[in-house]
Amino acid sequence: MRSVVRENAASITTFVLICIIIGFIILNAINQMLDSEIRFNDSNQKISLNTSKKIVEIHFTDIKNNILFLSSIPSLKTFAYGNYRDMAEKEDIAKNLQVLMANHKEIYKLRIVDGSGNEVLTAVNSSYDPRNIRGFKMAEIATPITDIKGAEKGELNATVSVFNMLRLLPDNIFIINDTGNAVTFNSDESVETTNLHYNILGRNGKIYLSKHDTLHYVTANITSEINILLGTRSNEEFIKKTIYERATIPVILTILFISLLILLAYLNISRFKELIGAQKIIIHSLADTTEWRDKTTGRHLNSTKEYAVLLSKHMRKKSKYRKTIDKDFLVCIADASPLHDIGKVATPDSVLLKPGRLSDEEFNIIKKHVFIGKQLLQNDIEKFTTKQPFFEIAKNICAYHHEKYNGKGYIGIKGDKIPLEARIFALCDVYDALRSKRHYKDEMSHEKAVEIIKSERGEHFDPDVVDAFLECQEYFNEISELNKV
Ligand SMILES: [Fe+2]
Repeated sequence: MRSVVRENAASITTFVLICIIIGFIILNAINQMLDSEIRFNDSNQKISLNTSKKIVEIHFTDIKNNILFLSSIPSLKTFAYGNYRDMAEKEDIAKNLQVLMANHKEIYKLRIVDGSGNEVLTAVNSSYDPRNIRGFKMAEIATPITDIKGAEKGELNATVSVFNMLRLLPDNIFIINDTGNAVTFNSDESVETTNLHYNILGRNGKIYLSKHDTLHYVTANITSEINILLGTRSNEEFIKKTIYERATIPVILTILFISLLILLAYLNISRFKELIGAQKIIIHSLADTTEWRDKTTGRHLNSTKEYAVLLSKHMRKKSKYRKTIDKDFLVCIADASPLHDIGKVATPDSVLLKPGRLSDEEFNIIKKHVFIGKQLLQNDIEKFTTKQPFFEIAKNICAYHHEKYNGKGYIGIKGDKIPLEARIFALCDVYDALRSKRHYKDEMSHEKAVEIIKSERGEHFDPDVVDAFLECQEYFNEISELNKV
């Protein structure tokens, strides 16, 4: 288990970091949603409270207008004209008073009082529960009664219960009574009282009852003496809980989905790495086919690969090549170098393994390995429609590693028309050939090889490649010596 964790430490760390970042983003989004929901709720409560205030005030004005209208009906004037003695009129007026109270349950009692202050007619709202009066103010509205001649004969007096105003209000709005309790009228007609434990000052405002519990309140004007305090509460904890509950399942699903994507990506990358590994094995196996026939080439393949990487790194120091010779170029040239003589698979043993110098005809056969190598890779590039730079670099090295900068190579192209990787590899190939012992020649010293390469600057070799070689030539010697062992 520990070794699995150690081997995949980078992947696990990346996964954990991605999870932390995603978690942070989600948490931030939830908090923003929460803030916006709290602001929205706050604003909604203010709107609801102000609407309730208007409902109460308009409704009370409506009651006043109805009482005023009642005081002006002819039967009441006739009743007052006869000093409140006509029983038939009295009955008719009592009916009118009951109709008004049936339409306005907030009116507790209606009375007609004569000029001496005596009650001549009293009507009580039969649907009104007297227990509800407790703790609430009763508003008195009085309007004068005149007889048919216009003389004042008494007054019509209405007692209005503030409590019954609750019926008109939305569920989240309550009335704050004289004892500081919040009273709510439930839909089943039951009454709920909650102690706010807070003294309310001013006509309207906002009070934090606790860290997350806010009370908004506003005063509705009923009469000059009587006002109704309306309130509503918002509980941020409740909003938070609701949002977290709503967000839990989408968050879990998002994390699972992203984890699945990361897992799939990881498996794909692992598979891709395995394929690259397999590709390298095949490439080296191909290169080994020539080594198998000519035992001297094994050392040559290793040395030229190391020279090519070393020389490319030094070329990269020049600003001119910094963009072209990137990390991928270095990996590709290292992997492609051993394939440079792959075309020799088609060279007969009689020529390839011949001790001593080759005839012109034999040399022409040998020269064909550049075309064969190029064709082998070109066929694969076209067959598999691959765009991997490795194959292009390998093909160029196979085809052009015997080209000379002055155009006097196997094919005859010159200068910068020879691909860069082939110009670099050409020097490495020649250096190694000079330093190696063959059937027909002895091994050359490093110093002599450097002199020959220097003399070929601009002729056989690209001047930039020779300059880079001269900067690191002592390492060429080291590689050469190490590979002899
Ligand atoms: Fe070659």
